[in-house]
Amino acid sequence: MSMLLQFLFLSLILLAASTTGGDGQQFAYSGFSTNDLVVDGATTITSNGLLELTNGTDQQTGHAFYPTPVQFTRSPNGTVQSFSTSFVFAILSVYTDLSAHGMAFVVAPSRNFPGALPGQFLGLTDIRNDGNASNHFFTVELDTIENKEFGDINANHAGANVNGLRSLNSSSAGYYADGDVNGGEFHFHNLSLISREAMQVWMDYDATASSITVTMAPSKAARPARPLFTATHNLTSVVTDAAYVGFSSATGTINTRHYVLGWSFAMNGPAPAIDVSRLPKLPRMGPKPLSKALEIVLPIATAAFVLAVGSAAFLLVRRHLKYAELREDWELEFGPHRFSYRDLLDATEGFKDELLLGVGGFGRVYKGTLPVSKLEVAVKRVSHDSRQGMKEFIAEVVSIGRIQHRNLVRVLGYCRRRGELFLVYEYMPSGSVDKYLYGNNEGTTRPVLSWEHRWRVVKGIASCLLYLHEEWEQVVVHRDIKPSNVLLDSDMNGRLGDFGLARLYDHDADPQTTHVVGTIGYLAPELGHTSKATPQTDVFSFGMFVLEITCGRRPVVVVVVGDDESSQEESQCMLVDWVLERWASSGALLETVDARLGGDYNAAEACLALKLGLLCSHPFSKSRPTARQVMQYLDGEVPLPEMAPTDMSLHMMAIMQNEGFDDYVVTGSTASIGTTSVVSGGR
Ligand SMILES: *[C@@H]1O[C@H](CO)[C@@H](O)[C@H](O)[C@H]1NC(C)=O
Ligand SMILES: *[C@@H]1O[C@H](CO)[C@@H](O)[C@H](O)[C@H]1NC(C)=O
Ligand SMILES: *[C@@H]1O[C@H](CO)[C@@H](O)[C@H](O)[C@H]1NC(C)=O
Ligand SMILES: *[C@@H]1O[C@H](CO)[C@@H](O)[C@H](O)[C@H]1NC(C)=O
Ligand SMILES: *[C@@H]1O[C@H](CO)[C@@H](O)[C@H](O)[C@H]1NC(C)=O
Ligand SMILES: *[C@@H]1O[C@H](CO)[C@@H](O)[C@H](O)[C@H]1NC(C)=O
Repeated sequence: MSMLLQFLFLSLILLAASTTGGDGQQFAYSGFSTNDLVVDGATTITSNGLLELTNGTDQQTGHAFYPTPVQFTRSPNGTVQSFSTSFVFAILSVYTDLSAHGMAFVVAPSRNFPGALPGQFLGLTDIRNDGNASNHFFTVELDTIENKEFGDINANHAGANVNGLRSLNSSSAGYYADGDVNGGEFHFHNLSLISREAMQVWMDYDATASSITVTMAPSKAARPARPLFTATHNLTSVVTDAAYVGFSSATGTINTRHYVLGWSFAMNGPAPAIDVSRLPKLPRMGPKPLSKALEIVLPIATAAFVLAVGSAAFLLVRRHLKYAELREDWELEFGPHRFSYRDLLDATEGFKDELLLGVGGFGRVYKGTLPVSKLEVAVKRVSHDSRQGMKEFIAEVVSIGRIQHRNLVRVLGYCRRRGELFLVYEYMPSGSVDKYLYGNNEGTTRPVLSWEHRWRVVKGIASCLLYLHEEWEQVVVHRDIKPSNVLLDSDMNGRLGDFGLARLYDHDADPQTTHVVGTIGYLAPELGHTSKATPQTDVFSFGMFVLEITCGRRPVVVVVVGDDESSQEESQCMLVDWVLERWASSGALLETVDARLGGDYNAAEACLALKLGLLCSHPFSKSRPTARQVMQYLDGEVPLPEMAPTDMSLHMMAIMQNEGFDDYVVTGSTASIGTTSVVSGGR
């Protein structure tokens, strides 16, 4: 029981201490309620607890005081004791750069200021009464207008005054931040009184030294160690024994609100700390405040919108780049033959390696299935940077696309991108003839092409050549007839494919160096001089093709030279020479027919094919038959001219050496064979 009484007693003492301080009064407010203070003039306490000293009407004054006077002396006519105060304030002007007039912490004998004026008088005095010692008031002013009559230093200062508006000392608003020492000096930070930001002021009067210190800082910042300014004045002569403490403020011609958010005071001790976390919110200035919900939703919505627009743009750009094509005005007329890159990408599943049909001289060929029609196509992807000749080439491709011939692989259309050209062909399920003649490198062996099939292919290609050279509305030169460009359809008919690419590359040629394009072994000798593809150069290539398909050998033959095994050497020679040599030496032309046929061939047809091949490969272009004559020979309508192997062979050697094959540059898939192979061999 006694314990409980002791506890209650102690609690009472503590309670008393908390309200009166060591030997005086103290209080602290974080926000105000209506009965905390006595107000007058324009001053109100807002519903959210702000002390609004002025209400935004101009030329107003307002006061707010702690309701009861504070005892500043211990005994009547004694010395004024030490005291401290601290407050958080904010000034909200309608303008961001101009305000009027200011506010002050006030210690005064009375709550009434008779005759006090607004404006620069801050609701404290008038010009007649200013500085009169009988005023007995002490103030800490926050002044936003420079009034020369009161010796103001600027329009943004704090000052300590007695009895009037002239300051004992003052300073531009700001603070010296702790730990921010610059060359032994604290660094000064300006504060703008009219920044609409809450700021805190501390004022301490030390009676023993008659010193007044004023310190400022942004609200929520800790109290800086170094005060903003100090003043020395014995307040015993100023402050009355009992005096009211509070605030005074006034507006001038500018609509301004002066607010106090929190306040503490103590006699004989430091002012209690203000709980800044509990301070009321300042009203928003400027545009009509948004609702809370909007305040939260709007930034999120804005961010989401920006994000959405950003990613949409990003995706569009990426998509644009991914599917970007090259289109020029002249292509309009070829519109129907133009494929979209997207469709080709879809068709070939993004040019998947598994769909690669082959790598040719000018590019890679992929199998594809067109998205809508489900038509199977072969898509040739050609790297091509040049615009030169592109129009002519496309025109030719498109015109060839219009040619309908059963031995022609149809060009369905094309597509262009930067640096790339795509040609879309009919898909030939059985692949190209060379695969059947030589197998492919991967070791997949195809069945030996029977003589019947070979003969049909030869006749088919010949009829196609005739059509291109003579029967179509304009002369079309294929330029690259060879087994890898002769494809087999499902009925094993030969179909000529890969049109015009050589022509496209011709246009790139540097006129300084004659740049013959095609495939070595199939190039007519005169191309070394003229580099002009003609029907005769096609016939030459066709001749090589016929020899190749009949002999089952590549246009450059590896032969073994030497009598006994030790001195044997490998040597290369042209297929033409090889056939001629065998023919001349043994008179047995048919020995050159592909051994894989196992003798299962029509001897008359094979003999015709070999002789026709030789004739077409004649070094003199004028001695070669035309495509029409070729067709007539093959159909047996016209007999082949008599040919003797020896004189033709001599012709060939002479021509080939004189023509100087070494002089021209060869590009294409088999260019690595080089030029020497052309002149080697023979006798
Ligand atoms: C501000 O206070 C004054 C004086 O009390 C009053 O006349 C005026 O209407 C008030 N203005 C506003 C906007 O409340
Ligand atoms: C205090 O001083 C005033 C005048 O300065 C005087 O009239 C008054 O009597 C004094 N009071 C006391 C208690 O000394
Ligand atoms: C100071 O104020 C008092 C009281 O109002 C007055 O009697 C006196 O004349 C004033 N002094 C001056 C210098 O104006
Ligand atoms: C601080 O304010 C003073 C007075 O207005 C001015 O002269 C000074 O340049 C300001 N300093 C900074 C860093 O803004
Ligand atoms: C202040 O003035 C009073 C009365 O004149 C005096 O008693 C006191 O000692 C003074 N204080 C200081 C610090 O000088
Ligand atoms: C005013 O305050 C400054 C800064 O504290 C100080 O250096 C200066 O001496 C003071 N002036 C007077 C007259 O007290």
